Amino acid sequence: MKDIAAHARSQFPALGSGAVFLDGPGGTQVPQAVIDAVAAYYREANANEHGLFAASQRSDAIIEAGRRAMADFLNARSRDEIIFGANMTTLTLHLARALGRTLNPGDEIVVTRLDHDANIAPWLHLQESGAVIRWLEIDPRDCTLKLEGLEETINKKTRIVAVGYASNAFGTINDVPGIVAAARKVGALTFVDAVHYAPHRAIDVQLLDCDFLACSPYKFYGPHSGVLYGKREALERLQPYKVRPALDSIPDCFETGTKNHEGIAGVAAVVDFLAWLGEIAGTPDPRVAAHGTGRRALLQQALAAIQAHETLLFSRLLSGLLAIPGLRVYGITDPERFSERTPTACFTIDGLVPAKIAEMLGQAAIQVWDGNYYALEPMKFLGLEEKGGAVRAGLSLYNTGEEVDRFLHTLRRIIAG
Ligand SMILES: Cc1ncc(COP(=O)(O)O)c(C=O)c1O
Repeated sequence: MKDIAAHARSQFPALGSGAVFLDGPGGTQVPQAVIDAVAAYYREANANEHGLFAASQRSDAIIEAGRRAMADFLNARSRDEIIFGANMTTLTLHLARALGRTLNPGDEIVVTRLDHDANIAPWLHLQESGAVIRWLEIDPRDCTLKLEGLEETINKKTRIVAVGYASNAFGTINDVPGIVAAARKVGALTFVDAVHYAPHRAIDVQLLDCDFLACSPYKFYGPHSGVLYGKREALERLQPYKVRPALDSIPDCFETGTKNHEGIAGVAAVVDFLAWLGEIAGTPDPRVAAHGTGRRALLQQALAAIQAHETLLFSRLLSGLLAIPGLRVYGITDPERFSERTPTACFTIDGLVPAKIAEMLGQAAIQVWDGNYYALEPMKFLGLEEKGGAVRAGLSLYNTGEEVDRFLHTLRRIIAG
């Protein structure tokens, strides 16, 4: 498999700044093809939907291309199962409200302690209508989910199971197939937060057999936007809150108001960019769209190559971090288990506040996050919330070994004072 990072890097104009972007879990940089697609939308197709004039028809075609692109990205059965929204949080709050209409007092919802709050708070709100929340807890040794007693937590009363595919704090990849299977056994619906997983591994909603799955293209080199997959049968059973003139058909009835058309143009472009990466030995120009039935296969190829590149780089990052005295990494550190995690490192250093470390790295043009990154429950659980959380350095497809070394070198300098 070719090292795609070298090919990819030249496509990202922002990398020319010389900064080291280790803030990918908060949002990645975008390739020129995405920038071009967003700009082209404004030049050539800027109009509202379903008008009887050319610009509106071009706009409709672009939105349709975005739906089909995301259907390929997630391996949805149909474009009808792809819902666009402002971001994952907004989509999840909206879906939870629609699901809340189907619940009776005493019905149970399972959430996890490991998740980003966007996959916890929307479900907690349903307690207002009498839902009971059950938690899957964290194993503090390696920040994985404790799955013993799963049959007791997911039981006959369970109506919804909301689980993260991967932790945006520690990079832990959860046993989502196992959890979805347990939910199916008792007839519960499943919602998967794939925001942190999507940039690192291929997603197959048909294989997972989940009912809903959300992700955010701005975490995988696309524009700020959110995408919700809903299995057709599951969507058909819901009555989303909507305004009356809006279409009643699926998926439109789940999309409140005017969509981010230019963002969707960029979403279609990023899927084609990733397909181009998958085809790297072939077509040299990412702006040449990879259409046809082969796009799904190319996307899988791209994600496999991204995983190979990121895993190699992560070994270098993690061994460097673990060699620093007084530095503690949270999450899986055993290289034999790297398939169970994304390349996102979460750490603290004795005697140094996370915000101070992030600030000093920022002054050296190295971008990392500090705090809780909205992973509020895990940070509280580990006792880190009141100490300013932890530093998070996450690798993306465009990072290099030299950047990892520069980060480690700067970190050691900061510690040495
Ligand atoms: C795992 C995870 N879930 C959900 C979200 C929220 O996504 P959005 O910003 O699209 O609402 C994030 C954002 O950081 C995330 O990392």
